[in-house]
Formats: sequence, structure tokens, C-alpha cells
Amino acid sequence: MAEDVFKKLVAHCKEYGYVFQSSEIYDGLGAVYDYGQNGVGLKNNIKKYWWDSMVMLHENVVGIDSAIFMHPTTWKASGHVDAFNDPLIDNKDSKKRYRADVLIEDQLAKIEAKIDKEVKKAQKRFGDSFDEEQFKTTNPRVLKNQEKWNALHKRFSDALNDNNLEELKQIIIDEEIACPVSGTKNWTDVRQFNLMFATEMGSTAEGAQKIYLRPETAQGIFVNYMNVQKTGRMKLPFGIAQIGKAFRNEIVARQFIFRMREFEQMEMQFFVKPGTELDWFEKWKATRMSWHQALGFGEENYRFHEHEKLAHYANAAVDVEYKFPFGFKEVEGIHSRTDFDLSQHQEFSGKKIQYYDPEEGKSYVPYVVETSIGVDRMFLQVMAASYCEEEIEDANGKKDTRVVLTLPPVLAPIKLAVLPLVKKDGLPEKAREIIDDLKFDFNCQYDEKDSIGKRYRRMDAIGTPFCVTIDHQTMEDNTVTIRYRDTMKQDRIEISKLHGIMAEAVSMKSVFAKLK
Ligand code: GAP
Repeated sequence: MAEDVFKKLVAHCKEYGYVFQSSEIYDGLGAVYDYGQNGVGLKNNIKKYWWDSMVMLHENVVGIDSAIFMHPTTWKASGHVDAFNDPLIDNKDSKKRYRADVLIEDQLAKIEAKIDKEVKKAQKRFGDSFDEEQFKTTNPRVLKNQEKWNALHKRFSDALNDNNLEELKQIIIDEEIACPVSGTKNWTDVRQFNLMFATEMGSTAEGAQKIYLRPETAQGIFVNYMNVQKTGRMKLPFGIAQIGKAFRNEIVARQFIFRMREFEQMEMQFFVKPGTELDWFEKWKATRMSWHQALGFGEENYRFHEHEKLAHYANAAVDVEYKFPFGFKEVEGIHSRTDFDLSQHQEFSGKKIQYYDPEEGKSYVPYVVETSIGVDRMFLQVMAASYCEEEIEDANGKKDTRVVLTLPPVLAPIKLAVLPLVKKDGLPEKAREIIDDLKFDFNCQYDEKDSIGKRYRRMDAIGTPFCVTIDHQTMEDNTVTIRYRDTMKQDRIEISKLHGIMAEAVSMKSVFAKLK
């Protein structure tokens, strides 16, 4: 069922100009996507919501835009050359490659699904008197599966923590995990695979240098720490924010734009005095959760997920997860990265990267709390949360299904559609006049093709929050019919009121007012 919804969402993204497969005419390129005429609008609005909330609302956060190519030593210092790996395993029969950790995670999810099924069945049977907690702690089938889950989870976490590749393979064998394509359990050993894309810079005559496409934007911030701190006369604590492309040669690229090989990140590194990082970590956790929830998709659809395996440089890490049609999954990571990155760059570059603290009267390497969210992942989250199929009745009582994207108005790519009822009697000219008046503040679209009903549906499917219809009465008294996407309610209003109604509904300020 949820899978069906997801398939429909993917098809919808293409049909309405949101997301296309990259180089589709050549049959596409794996896990690379392009954004269409509406997708780019939504993407830009997501980026603006993030950027303004970071840089405008925080006096002590500034932005930069660093290059994708960086000196190759950057990636040696950051640890990416040696350790930015995924454990991969091949099935010898299908020749398909998988991430060993993902195969085991899927196995854990299967056990979770069995428990959920039992709970749902009992819920149906017992109705209102059902006590979920009691059921889960007493039902023998649930208990058996929970025990199985705990044991597998522990074994898996230990193997990851010890970087024990043989144990990962043994788990796959013991759990009898089969290749989804060949159905066989004929596996190779587990090997580490580096996710960075490499290319060469300079002509061969000069001696080309191997460089990497950045796998995260964060390192562009770290290497610019001193530049920004000095030129901006920044005092701790302060943050540097950046939005930009990142590239990872993902082994298992799946679920549409959830995991891509070329994607965009919105990252902020917050530099703090050592010893205060865990307080800042908690503050940024709360700030970021509030940013997500202010969009109004329902608090119950978000949760924090603590990392089982902390990277060696982190002393705390959490994911913000959203309930996608395929389950709760990570949208954003919040990490307390200690002084690892700055210290590494200090060592590898031989340049002093420190902060002189006038209160302490000494210099030190600042600690860092990072917030890191994928633009594309956020895009998918917004689309998944907004895609609705509604049963409705038309004016004659006939049942119908309406597909509507209930995008938050602030993020919708088109804010207003202006629709002349007929293509004559000066109505199109009047419509253009209204657009000319509003187009500097709002993205408007003119549409005169098809019946008014069909035009409304088209705008619902794109997620346009407002439509106004120009009719003969408009020519007499300067009023229009405004139609609201979510309620389908219609009002007659004066044209002069339109700007005010729109401004209130689509302004960033109204969402910022909800931030805690
Ligand atoms: N600088 C820290 C960092 O890059 P990460 O957890 O690897 O951390 C942060 O990535 C965020 O970037 C993720 O929460 C996700 O939203 C996004 N992201 C990571 N890999 C991605 C991919 N292959 N495709 C799309 N988004 C991705």
C-alpha cells in the first residue's frame, strides 16, 4: 500500500515537472536526477527557508560558498581517503552488489514488521480496550521476535563498531539472507568501497593531479574557518552556513531522490568553546526539530534517532527522521564533531587554526556542532508529506478523486494561478493586468486552456495554493473569485485585497513565527 503511494508520487513528480531522470533520452544515469520547471521552484524555496532561518535569524551565523574542488590533502586530513567507505558484498549468481549493512538493516526491519503486524491485528481485535504496552510485553510471538531483534541488533552493532567485515558476512549467512534478484545465498566476502569520485586536474604534460569531487560541503567550511573568523571579526560561539553540491558513488542508490550520487547539502558548522559542545548540541537539536515541525506536517511524523555507532571523532550524533511511505528515515544529521576536523587541518597544513579567547586569555582549537541536511532528501520529504488523493463530490453529487499537493504555501513553486473564464471580452487582458501587478512579489501563472474545473485540478496537482478566476463581473466591479486549494472554498473578493491575502499566506515570516 505504502509502496503504491510512493510509486504514484514518483510518477507525479515527473508528470507535473518536478523531477526528471537525468539524461532520460539516453535511458538515464543511475541515481542522478534533474529538477523540472516546478521542482526548481520548490527546491529554491526550501533552500531559502533554510538559509534565511540560519543566516538572517541568527546574528552569529554567516554564510559562504566554497568550491566543489579542493586541495586533495583536504580529504586525507578529513579521513575521507582512508575511511569514507561502505561495506559491500556481491551475489555471485546475479552479479548484483549490495551494502552488507543495508542487507542486515532490511532483515531487522522485517522482524520489526512482524511485530507491528501482530500489534495491528490485536488492536483490531480488542478495539478501544487495547493496551499496546501490555500486549508487547506479554504476547509470546511478539516477545520471541523482540528477542530475535535484540540479539541480531547487538551482533550487528558490535560488528560495525569493530569494523569486523567477516562477522558482517557471517551474519548474512546465519540469517539466510538471499539476493532479492537471484534468490540465492551465494555471497562474496565483504569488502570496503570508497565512496569518493576522483578526477584529474591539469594537463598530462604538467603532471595531472588526482582530485576529488567533494563528498560533503563541510570541509569547505573548515578550511575557511580562519578566513571567516578574522575577516568577519567573529567571536565564539559562531556558525558558518553553506549550501552546495556533494557527490558520493553510492553502491545502493535507491528510493528515487532519497539516495543520489549527485546531491545538494545545507550544512552549518557551529564553532564553540571546548566543554560547551554538548549544551550546543542539545540547543541545535531543538532548533532544527522546530524548523522541520513549523512546516505543519504533523509532529508525530518526526523523531530523533540516536546513532548506535559514533564516528571516532564525534562525541554525540543524532538523526532527525521523518515517516516516509517506506518507514522512518533520516532527513538530517546533527553531530558534535569535537575539534577533530580543525585539528586535522592544522596538522596537515602546518597552519595555526585556533581561536584566541580574550576571557580565558589563551588560544585553543574550537569544537564544532554540525547540522547537515540534504536538499533533495528534504524535497522528497515535503513531496511525500504533501501528496494526497482525496475522494470528493462534484456539484452534481458525482464521486471523483482529486490529486492535490498540499505544499506549505511558503514552499509552493507557483503561488497564484490567474484564470480568465473565457478567452474574449477583455478577460485575458484583465488577467494579465493582475499578474503584472503581483509578479514582482509572487510567482504567478496564467492559464486559459480547458474548462475552469480542469484548470483548478491542474493547479491542485502542482500544489498552487490560490487560483483566481476572472469573469464578466470582474470587468464591471473589479472583483474576482478566489479559490483555496486545500478547502476548495471560493470567495468573491476585490482585486485590491488580493496582494494582502497572498502576502500573509505565503510569507516566510508566518512560518518563522512558529519557530521555537
Ligand atoms: N557533513 C556531514 C555529513 O555529510 P551525512 O549524514 O553523510 O553527514 C548529511 O549527510 C545529510 O545529507 C543526510 O542527512 C542526507 O539528508 C543528505 N545525504 C547524504 N547522502 C545523500 C545521498 N547520497 N543522496 C541524497 N542525500 C544525501
